[in-house]
This record gives sequence, C-alpha cells and structure tokens, in this order.
Amino acid sequence: MSVRAIVLAAGQGTRMKSSLPKVLHPVAGAPLLKWVVDAVRQAGPDQLVVVVGHGADEVEKMLPDGVQTVIQKEQLGTGHAARQALDVLGDVEGDTVLVVPGDSPLISAATLSRLIERRAADDAAVALLTTRKADPTGYGRVVRDGAGAIVGIIEERDADDGQRLIDEVAVSTYAFEGGALLKSLSRVGSSNDQGEIYLTDAIGVLAAEKAPIVSIETDESEGMGVNDHEQLADAARRLRRRLNQQWMSEGVRMVDPERVYLDATVQLEAGVTLLPDVYLEGSTTVAAGAQVGPSVFAEDSQIGPESHVWYSVLRGATVGARAEVGPFASLRPGTVLGPDSKAGTFVETKNAIVGPHSKIPHLSYVGDAEIGEGSNIGAGTITCNYDGFEKHSTRIGDGVRIGSDTMLVAPVTIGDGAWTGAGSTITKDVSPGALAVERAKQREIPDYAAKKRAKKAPDE
Ligand code: UD1
Ligand code: CA
Repeated sequence: MSVRAIVLAAGQGTRMKSSLPKVLHPVAGAPLLKWVVDAVRQAGPDQLVVVVGHGADEVEKMLPDGVQTVIQKEQLGTGHAARQALDVLGDVEGDTVLVVPGDSPLISAATLSRLIERRAADDAAVALLTTRKADPTGYGRVVRDGAGAIVGIIEERDADDGQRLIDEVAVSTYAFEGGALLKSLSRVGSSNDQGEIYLTDAIGVLAAEKAPIVSIETDESEGMGVNDHEQLADAARRLRRRLNQQWMSEGVRMVDPERVYLDATVQLEAGVTLLPDVYLEGSTTVAAGAQVGPSVFAEDSQIGPESHVWYSVLRGATVGARAEVGPFASLRPGTVLGPDSKAGTFVETKNAIVGPHSKIPHLSYVGDAEIGEGSNIGAGTITCNYDGFEKHSTRIGDGVRIGSDTMLVAPVTIGDGAWTGAGSTITKDVSPGALAVERAKQREIPDYAAKKRAKKAPDE
C-alpha cells in the first residue's frame, strides 16, 4: 500500500486582502506552504501533488524539486481541488491519500504519520484530524451522533445555532482510503452557502454509507489554519515559540523567548545568548559564546564566537571572534570584522575589511576600505569613497592611527604605522610611519572677546 499526499494551495485567500497568494505569506522566514510541504515530505509519502491555482507561477517557484503540481483553474472549493489532484494520481484504490491544507503551517510530520498509520491500522475509509477550540469560529464542526460516531462536518456558515456550539472542529487534514475518497467526492454537491464543492462533505457521504470513520485529536496549534492577518500573526507566534524552545533545548540562552524572532533557516550554536528584540534572518549564523541583543537585526550575516553585538543592523556582514559591534552600528554587505575588532557607536561600514584588533569606535563611515591589524580609526573619520561618478578604495595598513575627524579621500593608501592629524583631509598617500596633517595653523587673537564687546555694545 502506498501513501500519496495532496496539498491544497489554490485558493486566493480573500480574507488576507492582499495580492500575494495566501500560501505565500511568510511566517518565520518561510511561506506558509513551505512549512506544510516540508512536514508532508517528512511524513514520507510515495507521491506528493500540490494543487495550485491563484498565483500558480509564483507558488510553483517556491516548491522544492520533485513536487508535482496540478492546476485548479477555478477555485470551486476544497473538494473540487482534491478532485483535480486525484486526476493526476491515477489509480489510488487501496492506497492512503493524505489531504492537507496549504494554510496550516504548524502541522507536524509526526501527526501526519500518526493519521496515516491510524487509517491503515483500522482499515478505515478515512481518518480525520480534529482539534478542540475554545473559540471554534470559522472552522467546520465535527457532528457526532448520540453514540459518538461521526456523522459529518458542518461548515460554520451552514451550521445552526446548536451546531455552532460544538467545540470539536475539523482541521481539513485527512487520511482517506483512495477508493473511498474518489467515490465519496463524486457524490458531493455544492448546495451550501458558498455554492462550493466541500471536501468536508465527503465525510458526510461516507458516514451515510456507514463506512468506517476514525478521528484523532491534535493540539490547537497544529490544527490552526491561516485565513487572515490576525491568524497569520498568531501562527507566527506559535511557530516562533516552537522554534525557540527547540533552540533553547540545544543550549541557546534566551532572556525572553517571546521577543526573539528567528527565521527557520538561521543556525545557532550552544552557548549563544540572545537578548530581547533580536531578529535573525536568512542564512545568519551565530557561534558559541556570542551575545546578541538587545535590539539587533541581522540578515545573511555570520556572528563569530564570543562576540558582542547590540542595538545594531547587520546585512551580509561577518563579525569575527570576540569582536564588538554597536551600540547603533550599521554593518552593510561586504563588511568583514576580524577577530577582536570593533565597530562601535554610530559607525557605518560597507564592503570593508577590518583586520584583527583594529577599532572604529565612534561616528565613522568606512566603505570600500581595507584596514590592517591593530589600527585605530578616530572618531568622526570618513572614507570619502565616491567622487560623484565612481567608487574608490581606501587602504589602511597595520598599526595605523587615524586622527579624529579625518577625511580619507579615496583612492588613498595609509602606510603601516602612519598617523593622520585630527581634522585632516587626506588626499595623498601617506608613507609608513609618517604623520600627515592637513589643516590651517591655529592662531590666537588676545583679548578678542573684550575688544569685540567694546565695539558692538559699548554701554553694557
Ligand atoms: C477549511 C474547511 C473547514 C476547516 C478549515 C481548517 C472546507 C470546506 N472547510 O475551511 O472545515 O475547519 O479548513 O482550517 O474544506 N483551496 C483550494 N481550492 C479551492 C478552495 C480552497 O486549493 O477551491 C485551498 C486553499 O488554498 C487553502 C485550503 O484549500 O489552502 C483550505 O481552504 P480555505 O478556504 O482556507 O478553507 P477554510 O474556510 O479555512
Ligand atoms: Ca483555511
């Protein structure tokens, strides 16, 4: 007996009020549908078909290789969508057909496997997944007879007041026996409030035939579907909680896990500390002993061991071991901070290589630059990398002392061990070990203030 899976992802998601297809809305860095497809794939079906329709091109683009798609041209309902998939699955008689909605990102592979096994073990026509909701609004209610046997699922908008009180809901996830699905779906009509072909009605058809129906209950989180932005935020919060619990169990310390926002793609080592309001996205990695936060946004960045990053923005940046970043630094793409280096308060870097033990402590812009080892960049230094037409590079050697408020007009090279005087505008290369000063000599006018006052306000 093989297992075939269908994921329903053709709907527009009208309630999102967005031009983006609903299943592409991201949670924890991945589209809703990706979470579902990953879980389904982990459950190990022999075949997987995703039903696409609204925004089909975009949706297909994000699907991993080896996933089949089928187009549902008109979104005539979940039952109609399942039929489209059955058309490409071919002969499913005796197989298990798993059906999962593309808008339930918290569904787990373990639960799907449990559902598949349960259907097979009981040789049931269908095993359906249910959950209990304190507020079941919007979900299909599971209707049972006096003996507790399932007689059908009734959608909220078709339910009467009594049925609306039922707190056991269907979460649109089923393991059908293939033949039973095919046969029951062919008998489902569209006489409901929306005039759609409901997959849920297949359950009623099977119940009427006294076909064996079983159910398993899962927790509220796993069963939640995303229909609007409030539910999207709710799903994100639940996924975040799950992800953060996982990282904490692997040795990551989070001072307040409710305020740590990680993409699923981020990698952390044991011994990392994350403070509140940290957003780590894309391919970001953080090594052991690093302390990140409060208030850090890092995208596609590598944060080295024992480093300290706070109140800062990192995009495509690499932070070396024991380096210090922030507060209020902006490390833009191509920034590579060497071990024991520093990019401090109000420092912006871009395409800049900062050697080991070199420091840019305050108020500087360093772009298209390479700094050697053990150099210090004085407060307010700017690499003037743009001449209005092209970008040019600045090279600063080892052990250099750049004085405060130095303008380094690129292209320019500062030799090893050289110094620049505070306030200098350096336009020519500086030899190793030399001091370059470029500023007017200071002069003094004695008693200037008194003389000025005598002239301007003699009566005071
Ligand atoms: C559905 C169930 C409801 C259940 C809830 C759980 C039906 C009729 N209702 O309601 O019982 O409690 O999920 O979250 O099944 N889709 C298609 N083609 C279509 C229509 C929908 O592919 O023609 C896809 C959507 O993209 C979505 C999924 O099916 O991923 C579910 O559709 P949705 O409109 O969200 O159904 P609900 O109203 O949430
Ligand atoms: Ca839904």
